[in-house]
Amino acid sequence: MRRLDEYYVFNNWDKRGSFRIGCPFLKNIMRIKISTRVVFLFKNFVIKIPIDYRGYLQGKNERQTWDNYKQSGKLCPMIWEIFGIVCQNRCIPIDKINANKVKEIKKLIPTFDFDNCDLYNPDNWGTYNKKEVLLDYGVNEQISKMYKCKTY
Ligand SMILES: Nc1ncnc2c1ncn2[C@@H]1O[C@H](COP(=O)(O)OP(=O)(O)O)[C@@H](O)[C@H]1O
Ligand SMILES: [Mg+2]
Repeated sequence: MRRLDEYYVFNNWDKRGSFRIGCPFLKNIMRIKISTRVVFLFKNFVIKIPIDYRGYLQGKNERQTWDNYKQSGKLCPMIWEIFGIVCQNRCIPIDKINANKVKEIKKLIPTFDFDNCDLYNPDNWGTYNKKEVLLDYGVNEQISKMYKCKTY
């Protein structure tokens, strides 16, 4: 017999603190991840909704980073942003990220070059059109220090 939590909650907290929930009838349409933003994952796009002021600033900063560096091909394409809510193309998750890749993007985007940045976390990367791209590009040093994420 299936346990109730298998039906309504799958994966719970993942290794980096995102919470994934889903119902059987939604499973193939959409997943949800929660960290500083609630992320609705649809088949071809995602929508990130801030749950606090930091999440709002991340969305705004993500938009600015996209506007400045979209030609680099190193960022997951953004479709639109409004009031800190971001819509991006959906990427395929990856398990690890090469340190050189992180060095490369820090060189390209100097605001990412600070200690304890989250760029070494593969959850913030994915593949889009078979290329590794950064999908979480809204954090700068100031935002990262706003309130530290709890470690579980
Ligand atoms: N474009 C995307 N494609 C696929 N998954 C995504 C995308 N954007 C976010 N996610 C998933 O949602 C999680 C949280 O999104 P992220 O942009 O990293 O927000 P946060 O700033 O809250 O960490 C990511 O770790 C990833 O698993
Ligand atoms: Mg992230």
